Amino acid sequence: MPSLQDTTRGRILFGGDYNPEQWPEDVWHDDVRLMKEAGVTTVTLGVFSWARLEPRPGVRDFGWLDRLMDLMHGHGIGVVLATPTASPPPWLGRLHPETLPRDEDGNVEWWGSRQHFAHSSPAYRRYAAAITEDLAARYAHHPALTMWHINNEYCTYDWGDEAAAAFRRWLRERYGSLTALNSAWGSAFWGQSYDAWEEMLPPRRAHYMKNPTQVLDFKRFTSDALLECYAAERDIVRAHTPHLPVTTNFMPLWQGQDGWKWAAQEDVVSVDVYPDPKDPLGGQYGALVQDLTRSQAGGGPWMVMEQAAGPVNWRGVNHPKPAGLNRLWTWQAVARGADAVCYFQWRQSRQGAEKFHSGMLGHAGEDGRTFQEIKRIGAELRAVGPQIAGSRLIAEVAVLHDWDSWWAGQQDGRPSSLLDHAEVLRAWHRALWEANLPVGFAHPEHDLSAYRMVVVPHLYLLTDTAIDRLVAYVRAGGTLVCGFFTGVADGDDRVRPGGADAGLRALFGIRTLHEWWPLDTGESVDCGDFTGTLWSEELTADDEAETVASYRGGELDGLPAVLRRGRAWYVSTLPAPDALRGLLGRAATEAGVRPPLPGLPHGVEAVRRGDLLFLLHHGRDAVTVTVPGGRHRDLLTGEPVGGTITLGRHGVAVLREDAHPAGSS
Ligand code: GLA
Repeated sequence: MPSLQDTTRGRILFGGDYNPEQWPEDVWHDDVRLMKEAGVTTVTLGVFSWARLEPRPGVRDFGWLDRLMDLMHGHGIGVVLATPTASPPPWLGRLHPETLPRDEDGNVEWWGSRQHFAHSSPAYRRYAAAITEDLAARYAHHPALTMWHINNEYCTYDWGDEAAAAFRRWLRERYGSLTALNSAWGSAFWGQSYDAWEEMLPPRRAHYMKNPTQVLDFKRFTSDALLECYAAERDIVRAHTPHLPVTTNFMPLWQGQDGWKWAAQEDVVSVDVYPDPKDPLGGQYGALVQDLTRSQAGGGPWMVMEQAAGPVNWRGVNHPKPAGLNRLWTWQAVARGADAVCYFQWRQSRQGAEKFHSGMLGHAGEDGRTFQEIKRIGAELRAVGPQIAGSRLIAEVAVLHDWDSWWAGQQDGRPSSLLDHAEVLRAWHRALWEANLPVGFAHPEHDLSAYRMVVVPHLYLLTDTAIDRLVAYVRAGGTLVCGFFTGVADGDDRVRPGGADAGLRALFGIRTLHEWWPLDTGESVDCGDFTGTLWSEELTADDEAETVASYRGGELDGLPAVLRRGRAWYVSTLPAPDALRGLLGRAATEAGVRPPLPGLPHGVEAVRRGDLLFLLHHGRDAVTVTVPGGRHRDLLTGEPVGGTITLGRHGVAVLREDAHPAGSS
């Protein structure tokens, strides 16, 4: 199978979405001149071009794209060509209203924005396949073409009739019989038993809480239905260009797609990442997305399909990036395994909904600070990229994350609506990030034996297979740190006897799990050396368990808050950030996991990729970092580094240990 390396060919790609149909053609020539100046090596064309390519049903207008492909090739810029199927032309909705999705109240999502397609509509799929086929046939042999980008940020839900019919087919396939379905859904509760497949519906507007397994299955189905759309277009382009990789861009930590299942269907895993420049933990959010995406790519190189050079336009208040932040976050992605770093978008729009969203080339033009920083990044990547591209990171700690568990756990009728799967994941990842531990992500059914330590921030639903894996992992000498409200439900969202899986409880030394005690906003529990928020649990330990921390005061006074049994730890609350960092640091030390550099100043991140050491300074005040070992050279400055290096505001260094230090022969 082709991979990202077939496109990068030893470089780190740099570029962005290019939407030239918004501009007169004379601007295109200015664009390529400035792209060359900025070191752009790749552009993504055609993401929203369906109406331009097919102005009327069956009519094709490829002339403008021919000229662009030639223009790019003439300037040595590769093209990632998108299938334009994320935004069907208005005529499709007019002629085939069934191609428009409906919300859970039955309201139509009309054209006039984007992503207004009903994933399971045969008419949508037919027209999407036809334009994809013609696009692929026309450009298969064009020398500018380097990769395919299918659709864009697949993210639609549909509760309409086309989706209902497809959902029924999906359920028949999954369960085979209504008896099996009724059992899995627990439909005896509230008299919901189904007697005919025609009665099955997406979970539309209802009087009160919906059947949780129906909701869970609808999310599984939606992810699968969108994946079918992706796979259909992928197979069309693949038939024309078997040598070129195919991708689609993920939204990070997005509920709508099972990221593990999707990544397995891609040649290149790519993601769009937009941390808030005002968020003091924006760098950590970026690192989480990068760690997750790299893990979805099997640990190998991956692609930032989109980031912003400055502000976005979809937050309440949209903050620009202060000087140096774009460069820092770009290098952070490279440090964590990206071999391509691209932006939305090349030239900032003057019209349309995103005219206040930054571009690489903003309204301020080529003198603007944003473009100047872009030029610097492009030059650095061109110079240093070949020494980095293709190399890998070794993650010794795995964080387990699973969409099934997220879908099942994030529903009405749970002990606490404040429990947010993604927020708990962020809190645990933050602790590992601040401790500078090399982290990857894994699915709970993955083989975990390569990791020295596994952490489970919170997985409400765990299958029997996943539980067996965890138990076997600890038996084989692995270190497991597990958060609260985990292993509660089986794969059908049925609560396990005893409130959580018996095998897991035995692993941690939990004798009885009496009650969940979720906490209110602003409420905390005293655990002696630290405070916990969000959650607490009333549990008693068995004789094998060691109590690491206990609740003090309140209803849970004296009961264990943190337990361990050998290498298996259980944390029944959400410890304050410092405490969680300390706890995970202690478990990691025992497991033999070390940060790449000891004693880093606050705000400095160190990442080892291949034989390079990346230092990334998230703060604004200069700091000095001690670099032990032999003499190093900073590839960005070409300067030797002995003993220490000073990093200024948002400073970056890429260090290579000198093979032949000065003075040696
Ligand atoms: C997404 C989309 C882009 C653009 C950006 C704006 O990532 O894929 O088309 O809308 O958001 O941030």
